[in-house]
Amino acid sequence: MCGIVGYVGPKPALTYLLEGLFRLEYRGYDSAGVAIQQGDAIAIRKKTGRVGQLSQLCQEQPIEGSTGIGHTRWATHGEPSDVNSHPHTGGNGEVVLVHNGVIENYASLRNELREQGYVFRTGTDTEVLAHLVAFELSEEIKMGADPSRTATNLKAVESALKRVKGTYGIAVLFRDNPGTLIAARLGSPLVVGIGKGEHFLASDASPLVGYTEEVVYLSDHEMAVLTADGMQLLHRDGGAQTPDVKVLEQASEDLDLGEFEHYMLKEIFEQPTTIENALRGRLDEDEATARFGGLNLDPQQLRRIDRIVLTACGTSWHAGLVGEYLIEEFARIPVEVEYASELRYRNPPMTDRTMIFAITQSGETADTLAAMRECKRKGHPTLAICNVVGSTIAREADGGIYLHAGQEVGVASTKAFTAQVTVLTLLALFLGRMRHLSYPAGKRIISHLQAMPDMLRRTLECHEQVKTIAEKYYGAENFLYLGRLYNFPVALEGALKLKEISYVHAEGYPAAEMKHGPIALVDEDTPSVFVVPKCNIYPKVMSNMEEIKARRGPVIAVACEGDDKVADIADDVIYVPPVDEYLQPLVTAVPLQMLAYHIALLRGCNVDRPRNLAKSVTVE
Ligand code: F6R
Repeated sequence: MCGIVGYVGPKPALTYLLEGLFRLEYRGYDSAGVAIQQGDAIAIRKKTGRVGQLSQLCQEQPIEGSTGIGHTRWATHGEPSDVNSHPHTGGNGEVVLVHNGVIENYASLRNELREQGYVFRTGTDTEVLAHLVAFELSEEIKMGADPSRTATNLKAVESALKRVKGTYGIAVLFRDNPGTLIAARLGSPLVVGIGKGEHFLASDASPLVGYTEEVVYLSDHEMAVLTADGMQLLHRDGGAQTPDVKVLEQASEDLDLGEFEHYMLKEIFEQPTTIENALRGRLDEDEATARFGGLNLDPQQLRRIDRIVLTACGTSWHAGLVGEYLIEEFARIPVEVEYASELRYRNPPMTDRTMIFAITQSGETADTLAAMRECKRKGHPTLAICNVVGSTIAREADGGIYLHAGQEVGVASTKAFTAQVTVLTLLALFLGRMRHLSYPAGKRIISHLQAMPDMLRRTLECHEQVKTIAEKYYGAENFLYLGRLYNFPVALEGALKLKEISYVHAEGYPAAEMKHGPIALVDEDTPSVFVVPKCNIYPKVMSNMEEIKARRGPVIAVACEGDDKVADIADDVIYVPPVDEYLQPLVTAVPLQMLAYHIALLRGCNVDRPRNLAKSVTVE
């Protein structure tokens, strides 16, 4: 949450800062701002609203200079407003900084700084940090240090950060030390881009695409001093670090909307390809199993595992539920799916044979990271299923599996979900083949997986039909989503998609559970979306559907092609190709993503930037 950019070099900083903020806008869009060194002052432009509004402001009030920082905000402390927008100023303008994270002890620090005469104008925790750096700088100056020297400013940042509790990714400019930018991280991601005679900073690699291919990901407690010609990396507690320069693996096509109106729709339509990418090179037909390059565990260790904990948040947690069914069915290993936000503070019994998988698109979700660290600290093998290469979770895990889904820009997760389910299917196959799963069963799973990209292409053909159904139901204020077995997590995911982008209340349930309470919600204005492809308990789900119809509830069904029985009961049917039960979530999730998309559009909502949300949740 919140996106940070920075630039030092020979060119006008504003170009990169604004473009970078546009690319990071998915991290928060309550307000945006930039600060650029102009001679012996630092000029600031900031505004409530989207980066586009900031860009307009910068046209009206131009701002020049070649060292600058920028920020796009997801509000935590202090409402979205011009004054609460970053950058924030410390002291009398000698320090200007942007921040992503939360300063937990801001209240006590603010009292202390007030007593020292510092005046607070905003409701943010970040202003406390800005004044704290200014205070530490004044202490250095009192001791005779020169404020135009980088060493003095670095010391001030270092001393301030040692007093802070919480998380931060920061970029700081000092009025009296032009041409230098100081960055630091603890808990909130930062990446430095190394150019020719210039350096870039960003919260993730997306702003760097097209500017440089060499990047350095900062680790917790690291600080970077950036000038046009150089980068100095240090540990907060002293000591130079050697930068580990990596090659940027992101492609600019990910950011190109192409023929689509929104990223969400583009990403829904990318799913045949992203599933293909998740499978590529991982199917071992000779051994009838899957193979992974980065698990970093030997077969003996893997065979010892007698329990798996999958931990995640939101959509990734729903993928974890599908993973639980898959792994238990194929590998017969007991699996628990834990909300990361709960697991991090619980202490469930785990043995030395328990393996942890953190599932995350961004690789930066604060709760997932904390849960993973807690499990790692206890000595469990801790792996990640992650999309963003070089993200904190990907780097800190003992090993893992990348999704290879490309950047997901839409705030509502779509292609990452199906890629996660694909990877979890591969994992279940792999673990299963180390245990009970027979060779022919493994071969069958492989051939079904190979067919999935085409099945997804066929599924996408329902788009026009889903659009028509959305037009019929978009005025409803409540929806129920119901499914059983592998389609229960799909029902949860369908309801989440609708809630988050259209602001319509929706509940996902196992279809048979609805008669234990939620059925009371059913009336002629409350549609129920049934996920009912052919499965072992298909007749039971059909009975659940009848129960809703008996109460005059409208029914939208997602069913297998050729299923006429469903059409006799449901008001509307969306057909998907028939696939084996365990692969159904890959096809049944797609029309639900489309339904949410079209209902949101018809209700006039911003599908790619839903209110109150941000793509990467880096606060607890
Ligand atoms: C919903 C959505 C969120 C994320 C959740 C976890 O569409 O995107 O629920 O799934 O915030 O994010 P990651 O997967 O990045 O850890």
